Amino acid sequence: MCGIIGIVGVKPVASLLIDGLKRLEYRGYDSAGIATLEGGKLARRRAPGKLFNLEKLVDEQPIGGTIGIGHTRWATHGAPSENNAHPHATAEVAIVHNGIIENFRELKRELEAAGRVFTSDTDTEIVAHLVSLYIGQGMSPRHAAATAFKRLQGAFSLVLMFSGVEDLLIGARRGTPLAVGVGTGEMYLASDAIALAPYTSSICYLADGDWVEITRDGFKVYDVDDQPVERAVRQSHVTGAMIGKGNFSHFMQKEIYEQTEALTDTLNAFVHPSTGHIALPEMDVDFASLSRITIIACGTAYLAGFVAKYWLERIARIPVEIDIASEFRYREAPLPEKGLALFISQSGETLDTLEALRYCRRQGQYILSIVNVPESTIARESDSVLYTLAGPEIGVASTKAFTTQLSVLACLAIAIARARKTVSTEDENRLALALRDAPSRIAQVLHLEEQVRDLTRRFTDVRDVLYLGRGSSYPIALEGALKLKEISYIHAEGYAAGELKHGPIALIDESVPVVVVAPHDALFEKVASNVQEVAARGGRIILISDKKGIETIGSLATATLEMPEIDGFVAPILYAVPVQLLAYHTAVHKGTDVDQPRNLAKSVTVE
Ligand code: AGP
Repeated sequence: MCGIIGIVGVKPVASLLIDGLKRLEYRGYDSAGIATLEGGKLARRRAPGKLFNLEKLVDEQPIGGTIGIGHTRWATHGAPSENNAHPHATAEVAIVHNGIIENFRELKRELEAAGRVFTSDTDTEIVAHLVSLYIGQGMSPRHAAATAFKRLQGAFSLVLMFSGVEDLLIGARRGTPLAVGVGTGEMYLASDAIALAPYTSSICYLADGDWVEITRDGFKVYDVDDQPVERAVRQSHVTGAMIGKGNFSHFMQKEIYEQTEALTDTLNAFVHPSTGHIALPEMDVDFASLSRITIIACGTAYLAGFVAKYWLERIARIPVEIDIASEFRYREAPLPEKGLALFISQSGETLDTLEALRYCRRQGQYILSIVNVPESTIARESDSVLYTLAGPEIGVASTKAFTTQLSVLACLAIAIARARKTVSTEDENRLALALRDAPSRIAQVLHLEEQVRDLTRRFTDVRDVLYLGRGSSYPIALEGALKLKEISYIHAEGYAAGELKHGPIALIDESVPVVVVAPHDALFEKVASNVQEVAARGGRIILISDKKGIETIGSLATATLEMPEIDGFVAPILYAVPVQLLAYHTAVHKGTDVDQPRNLAKSVTVE
């Protein structure tokens, strides 16, 4: 997911643009650039790789100006290179862009036929040439931009700057967010409020199809038909401190530790602090008459939904279908009349999840989503939204978003069970109490960090790692494997413990660590048998269990991590923390880029 920033003000803008790009690094990127107007003329600096390279270039070859645009690029069309880095420019126009122009080939052919010469492999460059063409035909920058937007197909957000026009930036939103930041004598455009946090908290999110012209003194929004339209300016709660690492070595570590607070904040929105009664916002859906719930998401968010499947089926007695969005959206799955489709997404911008949502909308489903970013596209396109209050999650590897998603899903499962009268008041209170205790239990689990760090030294030279779990611990085994893969680049697989003997047990030997996620619950004895099978073949077992579990089979393990005794209902929330720490410290020990792992973006807004 690329990052965009634009500033029109009175101060030199180059360093402000780069600072803004630093707060967009979390989105993932492989090149960056800025452009300003120096004496009315376009000036650009672009560099492949990390922002450090761009900063060094700007130090060596400074550019002036009080108006400018900046971009961090996660390559889609064209390799990550200086030549393909944004901003792209013609003599008249510079542009930064996030998303995909789907009809760029057709437009490129038309523009080349009109004599335009291209210098990059990107889809973005065609927009600069299209606007230039219209300006060359006598249109004003504003009219040329509005005309060009109507020719573009695809999901994108972009910002344009015009040679010789010192007090105008034009932005457009279609499918991926773009926010206006309202300053004093300075105005901003950016992909999200995080980039603008040190400059302003007054944020106006454009609606889909909007475009906006900003000057030093203000902004005007136009809808898809070029009609002036009012959009609310809201106060963002993102602060500079929230997007700093504090005393932690990485954002991921900070966010692992923030889970105590993030869960408390999130649960306080749904669980009455004294009675423990769980109350959800009013929804136009009758849980009691639902025949099935369809849960769709990607990656870690999908695994949160997978845990919820166990909860909903067990306590709310409702069948649940779950699928990854990239598969679901092409399956043409038949869906029940008036069914409920539930979408889970930290960013609220994952395109696969969004397109699956749109499929379910077309199929007449009630759309409920769980997201962490207000004003996100998935939130906007849902009938109801349950927000995780995790705060900005900067590390690409999702941690606090995952456990807060689980906490919201647990509240949802209890509320649906109550509506369907499948849970006694006594059980409902027990579950709600266990949920309310989860944050303090997480604080206890975090004391394992030192032990985990020492343990992970055994991981760094291995080729494969297996994670095993049963029941609602199985998705946590999958999540542990995903975390390890995505930040340490070590291949790992999560498996249902009972499935091991149907093939994967062939992998087991002394070189393969096997992480077993096993609270002492109703399935523990079954897991114990699987652990015996692994131990009999020399597998190096790391057992994550509670006191009772470790007393029972800890002797078979080369290492154990003792978890607090908790209600099995909330075990997935707590057992997520040690597997997060395992992945984190393995990556740190390996020296990989923990917060921005190679090839990954924080939110995947392309297909
Ligand atoms: C999680 O660690 C990954 N970064 C990734 O799987 C992520 O969960 C997935 O891309 C979904 O993102 P979303 O929650 O923003 O939709």
